Amino acid sequence: MEFVRLLLVFLHLLGMAMLVAMFFVQNRAGKDAPLNKGWLHGVGLQLVTGVALYALAPLTDKEYNHVKLGIKLLVLVVIGGLAAANLNKPKAPSWLPQTLVGLVVVNVALAVFWQ
Ligand code: HEM
Repeated sequence: MEFVRLLLVFLHLLGMAMLVAMFFVQNRAGKDAPLNKGWLHGVGLQLVTGVALYALAPLTDKEYNHVKLGIKLLVLVVIGGLAAANLNKPKAPSWLPQTLVGLVVVNVALAVFWQ
């Protein structure tokens, strides 16, 4: 079971890296580009791996901070909601990429500093 947890943490960290990378991909595409679908793929990966880690806690002998994970989930829902709401626009709003990556960084900070 420890291997499954490590595999999920591995994918969870890659999901985080993907969301940070999306910021640079979005910037490279220019101001007039639509929002890249990769944002939502990263959100999906974080959601699936994060919730799986939480759900498997009794089997992996882990005790997670429920409040912290609830807030991380809320932040992720905001990221996903903002991305989904702007996905079909011909041009992504200029404030959106910074806002999305800022919220990703908030979740990294919550994950690391709130033990
Ligand atoms: C943008 C969204 C997210 C980011 C960037 C993120 C980032 C991270 C990072 C960097 C860690 C490693 C922390 C460490 O080892 O000290 C972590 C761990 C974890 N995350 Fe997330 N997370 C996100 C969303 C979520 C969500 C929505 C959940 C579940 C509700 C979740 C559940 C967990 C759990 C359970 C761990 C601990 C894994 C373990 O060490 O066993 N994460 N997260």
